Amino acid sequence: MVASMRSLRLSGLGQNAGVHTAPFPIQTERLVLRAYMPDDFDALHAIVSHVDVNRFLYTEPRGHDETVELLQRKLGNTELIDEDDQISAAVCLRETGELVGDQMLRWVSVEHRTAEIGFMFHPGHHGRGYATESALPLIDFAFADCGFHRIIGRLDHRNFASARVLEKLGLRREAVQIDNEWVKGEWQSEIDYAILEREWRAQRDLRQV
Ligand SMILES: CC(C)(COP(=O)(O)OP(=O)(O)OC[C@H]1O[C@@H](n2cnc3c(N)ncnc32)[C@H](O)[C@@H]1OP(=O)(O)O)[C@@H](O)C(=O)NCCC(=O)NCCS
Repeated sequence: MVASMRSLRLSGLGQNAGVHTAPFPIQTERLVLRAYMPDDFDALHAIVSHVDVNRFLYTEPRGHDETVELLQRKLGNTELIDEDDQISAAVCLRETGELVGDQMLRWVSVEHRTAEIGFMFHPGHHGRGYATESALPLIDFAFADCGFHRIIGRLDHRNFASARVLEKLGLRREAVQIDNEWVKGEWQSEIDYAILEREWRAQRDLRQV
């Protein structure tokens, strides 16, 4: 009761302070989103060491030690307590348990109740709708449970697959920032997508009709 009074008061101030713990495991029709486990090294490394996965990201294909470090971080990414905290979901096939992708929810601003989503999947599993299917419950969680007001997605303007996922999720293309970042030895343009909580709610209500 005290906690909900507090979150109401804070949300009136335009904040969504508090501790938001990922409700893992989350099941969808074909997938399960769960917390990372120490055994996930091989599957995670297969994703983050892949050239195609890194093409439009800030990162280069990771070596063994970099993946060890990344997994270590992901093991702890199960709750949002403050800005810049992330929730990392290992996305696995329900049928086999195989880890095929990663979903991320990052707390961008407490004051503006904004979060960012991001995703990467092993190229062997692209084009099957997995990124879209697994982002849905994470966005639901972000709006309904964490009290975010706005969710954003940012991508390299050449990343058509990522843009398509965000559009399928209902995010709006809001800006193209021309040559705004120096990445991997060249100027790159970023596209910004966003959706508001009220828009997400309306779209979810429509889906249920
Ligand atoms: C972006 C990514 C996660 C998409 O994963 P996915 O599981 O294949 O996504 P989905 O199957 O849900 O949807 C992909 C959509 O992009 C479309 N697409 C794929 N490649 C495309 C291209 N080159 N041009 C246009 N559309 C493309 C697919 O046809 C599909 O749309 P559709 O359902 O209308 O046919 C995956 O490509 C990936 O891991 N990329 C590398 C990491 C990355 O860039 N992450 C995003 C960071 S912003």
